[in-house]
Amino acid sequence: MTSLRVAVAGKGGAGKTTLSSTLARTFARQGRQVIVVDGDSNPNVATALGIDREHAEAIQPLPMGLVSRRLNAASPGETRAALKDPVMDVVSRYGGLAPDGVHVLKMAMPEHADEGCLCSAHATVSALLADIEELDNTVSILDLEASPEHLSRGTTRHVDALLLVVEPYYRSFETARRMAALAGELPIGRVGVVANKLRSPEDAQAIAEYCERHGLNLEAEVPWSTEVLDADRAEIPVLDYDPSGPVVAAISKLAEKLGALKG
Ligand SMILES: Nc1ncnc2c1ncn2[C@@H]1O[C@H](COP(=O)(O)OP(=O)(O)OP(=O)(O)O)[C@@H](O)[C@H]1O
Ligand SMILES: [Mg+2]
Repeated sequence: MTSLRVAVAGKGGAGKTTLSSTLARTFARQGRQVIVVDGDSNPNVATALGIDREHAEAIQPLPMGLVSRRLNAASPGETRAALKDPVMDVVSRYGGLAPDGVHVLKMAMPEHADEGCLCSAHATVSALLADIEELDNTVSILDLEASPEHLSRGTTRHVDALLLVVEPYYRSFETARRMAALAGELPIGRVGVVANKLRSPEDAQAIAEYCERHGLNLEAEVPWSTEVLDADRAEIPVLDYDPSGPVVAAISKLAEKLGALKG
């Protein structure tokens, strides 16, 4: 078995964190080691996974200075950015532990206004994902913020799949199309759209037609569900709040599809 690395992107509020956290725990329940990386400067995937607020806030962002260069096994003579320490040492040192044994890391973010460049933080996530490839039976999920920055900086170059979460309205479609174009310049094996918050067959059809017109691969359809909002308000993951509901069912189906990409 090899590792599967998935990045989740899309417009603000589209459902990236809900999808990332539910996918993560679904994979963990299937017996995979799961590492979630919160790549949002306003981190909230830890609470979405079910860690209480106090413990979620206690997770320290990854520090700068974890990366060095090492010989690249895949292309002899070249070097690549890699973590200085074994990846699971980094995960256990800095990560939090969520229900179902999911590990969660926070990308380093500026703590103060005017703090400047994030290059090193992006390089850390990129090296982390590159090293995770070598772990067995592992799934890594990178929950992104609503900006194309992780794509334009190439932070996501080491993922096997990029999911673009789309709501059924035009500006959301357009964001996904632009992100797919950026992703096309990176060596990402699979780029797919996840249609979320579908309230009607017309919503589903609009997204399907848009995907078809722009050559995008429609990976999954997730219905709109008031239980997701109720779960949010109760600060309970939807996987615990409504485990047999349609949203969890659709995300489980997607997990099966993704799981088949890499044993
Ligand atoms: N299928 C769904 N049905 C109903 N509400 C949903 C669904 N998916 C997500 N939501 C709601 O949409 C809101 C945004 O979800 P979420 O935080 O997962 O989005 P996001 O893309 O991560 O947002 P951000 O860009 O702020 O990181 C939340 O209130 C969530 O409960
Ligand atoms: Mg989010």
